[in-house]
Amino acid sequence: MSTSRKPGRRVAAFCVGALLFAAAACAVAWVSLRPRPHPVVQPIAFSHRVHVSGEEMECADCHKRVGESPHATFPPVKYCMQCHEEPQGEHPDEPRVREYAQRGQEIPWVRVNRLPGHVYFSHASHVRDAKMECAECHGAMEDAEAPVTLPQIGHLDMGTCMACHRERGASNDCLRCHK
Ligand code: HEC
Ligand code: HEC
Ligand code: HEC
Ligand code: HEC
Ligand code: HEC
Repeated sequence: MSTSRKPGRRVAAFCVGALLFAAAACAVAWVSLRPRPHPVVQPIAFSHRVHVSGEEMECADCHKRVGESPHATFPPVKYCMQCHEEPQGEHPDEPRVREYAQRGQEIPWVRVNRLPGHVYFSHASHVRDAKMECAECHGAMEDAEAPVTLPQIGHLDMGTCMACHRERGASNDCLRCHK
């Protein structure tokens, strides 16, 4: 009798082995195919350091809506032209600010920081109401000599958002963050 059962066991062992192999292959594929952020290319070599530390500008001079709306927003080229109507400094990208303005075209900045579409976030709640510094989430932008090319908010997963909300008595209702 034992001879007729052996092939059955072998088939079962083969099936278990194949399943384990498939599971391992899937795990490897999952890890290696998960989208990884890659650096974007920005249109002009903008330096926060030159403008914030050098020209003593405030973050909200350019990111106008940061204290009153969900989105911080980017400055229109018209605003840059308040100073760049006349050449400023020697940097080779500086004249390009005027070139965009003369063509009547906005500078096509690529927005880098973005939460998944199902998450609602508001700058006003954190900057105006919770009195948080930009640096708590974005790092020391006043020292940035080159444009932002990689997301800075990777540390803000759901656990981190909720841990601070718990600590500071803000709402952890699912529908506050997922609308
Ligand atoms: C309050 C005046 C002012 C405003 C507004 C301003 N800039 Fe400037 N910017 C300067 C000055 C002054 C320099 C030259 C600094 C130097 O070379 O020491 C400069 C330099 C630059 C440079 C050369 C980069 C470098 O590393 O020196 C670029 C590019 C530039 N600005 C882009 C912009 C853009 C884009 C905006 C709008 C979002 C803008 N600027 C708004 C004053 C201004
Ligand atoms: C509590 C964390 C937090 C703080 C504090 C914070 N930000 Fe943000 N910022 C984010 C997140 C998260 C995003 C992405 C938002 C999204 O996808 O809806 C973002 C996106 C941005 C963007 C790009 C898109 C846009 O228009 O909103 C700019 C510019 C920006 N922040 C500037 C600022 C400035 C300036 C300050 C300080 C005055 C600041 N942030 C404070 C978390 C923060
Ligand atoms: C003179 C105008 C100007 C000032 C002042 C300024 N920014 Fe910006 N900011 C820009 C421009 C233009 C960009 C797009 C190019 C880049 O990434 O540098 C930008 C991009 C950013 C981004 C990346 C947004 C994204 O997700 O793509 C953050 C974060 C940011 N700024 C924060 C700050 C903070 C914090 C301050 C004050 C310490 C500040 N900015 C002051 C003009 C300005
Ligand atoms: C370091 C602390 C901290 C972090 C991190 C933080 N928050 Fe908040 N958040 C607050 C505080 C404090 C408030 C309450 C502000 C007030 O109304 O006084 C708030 C308010 C909010 C509100 C508005 C709630 C309402 O309806 O009034 C939303 C939405 C929100 N946060 C989403 C997020 C998301 C999404 C993240 C992560 C990406 C996040 N927050 C990360 C501290 C934080
Ligand atoms: C303070 C803000 C906040 C609250 C409150 C919150 N979430 Fe989230 N949630 C997030 C953020 C931010 C992400 C995106 C995380 C990421 O991409 O790393 C997320 C992601 C998710 C996801 C997708 C998971 C994934 O892997 O992409 C689900 C499902 C979810 N939340 C369900 C809930 C439920 C259910 C609740 C209520 C118990 C809740 N969330 C409360 C901020 C919040």
